Amino acid sequence: MKVSVLLAISAPMLVSAQQSLWGQCGGIGYTGPTNCVAGAVCTTQNAYYAQCVSGSGQATTAATTPRTTAPVTTTRTTTGSQPAGTGLDALIKSKGKKYVGFSADGSGQFNDATHANIFRTEAGCLTPENSMKWDAIEPNQGSFNWGTADTLVNFAQSNGKLVRGHTLLWHSQLPQWVKNINNKATLTTVIQNHAAAVAGRYKGKIYAWDVANEVVADGGGMRSSVFSQVFGDWTFLDVAFKAAKAADPNAKLCLNDYNINFTGAKLNTFIQVVKDLKSRGVPIDCVGTQTHTGVGDSSIANYKNTLTMLAGTGCEVQITELDIAFPSTSSSSALLNQQSNDYRTIVAACMGTSACTGITVWGVSDKNSWITGRHPLLWDENFQKKPAYTGFVNGINS
Ligand SMILES: *[C@@H]1O[C@H](CO)[C@@H](O)[C@H](O)[C@H]1NC(C)=O
Repeated sequence: MKVSVLLAISAPMLVSAQQSLWGQCGGIGYTGPTNCVAGAVCTTQNAYYAQCVSGSGQATTAATTPRTTAPVTTTRTTTGSQPAGTGLDALIKSKGKKYVGFSADGSGQFNDATHANIFRTEAGCLTPENSMKWDAIEPNQGSFNWGTADTLVNFAQSNGKLVRGHTLLWHSQLPQWVKNINNKATLTTVIQNHAAAVAGRYKGKIYAWDVANEVVADGGGMRSSVFSQVFGDWTFLDVAFKAAKAADPNAKLCLNDYNINFTGAKLNTFIQVVKDLKSRGVPIDCVGTQTHTGVGDSSIANYKNTLTMLAGTGCEVQITELDIAFPSTSSSSALLNQQSNDYRTIVAACMGTSACTGITVWGVSDKNSWITGRHPLLWDENFQKKPAYTGFVNGINS
């Protein structure tokens, strides 16, 4: 810190900070460096996102003004190690959205050629399913396991993918040493240190952080957790968001939750919490709606309304954990087709909502889904595309 201050004072002619390869260099709402390091070119992917890609060709100008008409489609640079986009991510980018993502984790997935190839060709963003959760990354106070999370971030960096950080504060998968804290000053410091360490380690490499996850109770109101109990109000969120901002100022900071549906009290509380954070000056940029749902669920037809209400917060909206499970392990062509239609409806709702910038599906193959045996994803157990994949494509094209 002191060194860079001295440099800035003694050498005022130095150029401003340069973004690293694969880092963001422009787009609506972006305030970081717009020049790329040598060997990389700032390339506009869409109005929301320009990225330093490998190569030395003609730089395109990063978008700085909101688009009011159809987006200009820019071809991704294919020099260097940047893979040519042919899959879902390239398609959604061509329609002006920022990414299609998948959850991932573990070197097994990245070392498996089939799995890794799907990440390379279909994904623009990866979310670690478990490895950045508190119990996984800081199981004992001040003692960190970085390996699995590093593997994902390194894969993303070397393949030009964004990363969604998940998650800094959550009542579940939380180690006992945090649950045992009963003092507000201590818990404040612990949240700050955790965010500083984890968001700090991946600074500049995370597109968006789920700073806090599932803080709203299922019936509305505040979920019971060590955080809500010790603070007695929502201001534990202020602590977490401010600490994340300090650790990684250019990452988008999100509040993420599940079952935040059009008709529910839970959505109303969620929206009020976001508005209150904003009115207190807490840095929040995005809302995540997990969207773990079921084939034929009656809420799906209302999904566009949900996204519209979330967009009303003024935040970027991201679908963060999409999967659409069968009612049981048994399958049929009727269920496969209904699932395809449901994916189409949900993806189309995002396409029709300008604030909705990206969609993450919670895994690639049904083989690896957390919803064991209920076929919720786009690829089957043998990594063959299902009708759901076509439904996703149709949703993007709708
Ligand atoms: C909406 O929430 C209900 C529970 O209230 C859940 O069963 C359903 O799957 C959710 N729908 C979506 C699209 O997320």
